[in-house]
Amino acid sequence: MQWKRLKPCCGCGCGWVPLCVLLVLLVLWVQMWAVWRWQLVRGSGKAEPEPRTGTRAAGGEAREPGSWKKADFGRKQVTYVRSLKRDRTPQQQQQQQQEEQEGEGCCHIPPQHSKPKFVRWHIDLQSWAGPTHSLEEEAARFLAYISNTQISCANVNEKDLSSDQELTMERWPICLDDRFGLSRQMLRGRCRIYSLGLEIEDKHFEEGLAKAGCEVHCFDPSIKEPHIQQSNGLWHHRVSVDWRDPNPAIAAQKHYRTIKKLGTIMNDYQHQKIDLLKLDMESAEWKILENLILENVIDQIGQLMFVIHLHWPGFEVGGDDSSVVRYWYSLLKELELKNFKLFHSHKNLNKPQIFLQKRVFNASSSYTLSWVNTLWR
Ligand SMILES: *[C@@H]1O[C@H](CO)[C@@H](O)[C@H](O)[C@H]1NC(C)=O
Repeated sequence: MQWKRLKPCCGCGCGWVPLCVLLVLLVLWVQMWAVWRWQLVRGSGKAEPEPRTGTRAAGGEAREPGSWKKADFGRKQVTYVRSLKRDRTPQQQQQQQQEEQEGEGCCHIPPQHSKPKFVRWHIDLQSWAGPTHSLEEEAARFLAYISNTQISCANVNEKDLSSDQELTMERWPICLDDRFGLSRQMLRGRCRIYSLGLEIEDKHFEEGLAKAGCEVHCFDPSIKEPHIQQSNGLWHHRVSVDWRDPNPAIAAQKHYRTIKKLGTIMNDYQHQKIDLLKLDMESAEWKILENLILENVIDQIGQLMFVIHLHWPGFEVGGDDSSVVRYWYSLLKELELKNFKLFHSHKNLNKPQIFLQKRVFNASSSYTLSWVNTLWR
C-alpha cells in the first residue's frame, strides 16, 4: 500500500522527494551489503551454509579440506554469472557468443570462475641464507632445496605416456597417485592440461595425454590460425603467455592481442581449473610463476611442472647474484606455502653446466621440477 502511494509521488516530484531519496539509498545499501557479503564468503574461504546445502551439512558429511569448494563454489558462481548475463545488452551477449565460437567448441565450460582477486605486488623474500649474504651460501641453500623432494609419489611416470618415449629430450614426470586427483580425473576423462612453451618440437608428452583422454591446450604464438585442433582433445592456441597483460593502448595492435596472462586465458576460456600445467618458458618461468602466485591463480592448478633456467637471472629478475638466488629460492618457497610439494626433481645434464654464467657448484643451467598441489581434489 505504501508503495502505491510512493510510486506516483516519485514521478511528480511533490513533497515526498526526501522519502524517495531515502528509499533509493536504502535499496543501494542493501545491494552493496549483498555484494560485500558475497565477496566475504568467497574471499574468506569459509563455507557459509546456504539454505539448500543445509541438509547436507546437517547430514554430517565429513568435509575434507577443500572439498566444499567444488560444490559450494559452483552454485554461488553460477548465480553470479547469471546475474552478470542479465545485465548485458543483447549486443554484448551476441559479441560474447561470437567470441566463444572462436574457441570452436573446445572451451565451452559453463562460466564458473570469476573471483575477486586480492592482488599482492611482491612475493615475500625469505631471509638470507647466511650472515655474509654470499653467493656460496645462497646457492648451497637453493640447490639443496631444488634437489630434495618434499613428498613421495609412488606412481611417477618416468617415461611419457606414449610408449615410444625412450629418446625424449626432457622427461616430464607427473604423479598418478590416487590421492592427488590427476589420475582420477584422467580415469573420468575430465583432465585438463595446459602446456606452455616456446617452440616445443617434441609434443609426445601432450599427444600422450590427449590420447589418454585429457583436454590438452598448447599455447604457441607462432601458429597460423587462432585455434587449431590437432587431434581429439589436443588444441593449439595462438597465444603467448606472459606475466602481465599488454597495455590496452597497444593491445589493439594485432601482435599484442596474443599476449596474455595465464589467469586471463583461463577466464577467456572459462576454465576454472587446470589439472596439470607444464611450463618451459626459457627463463620467463620466474616472472610467470610470480604472477600466478601473486594473483592466486596457482590455487587453480593441480600439478605444476616447469623447467628452471639458472645460467642467467631470467627476464626482469635483477640484483646481484646472491639477491637473484635468494629471489629464486623465495619464489619456490611461496609455492610450498601454497601447499605445493616437490615430488620430482631432474637435473638436466644435457644442458650447459653453468650457474649464473659461471661453472660453479657442480650445478646445471637447467632443472625440471614437478610439484603437486596437496590440497587438490
Ligand atoms: C656433480 O653432479 C653430478 C650429477 O648430478 C654427480 O653425479 C656428481 O657426483 C657431482 N659431483 C660432485 C663433485 O659433487
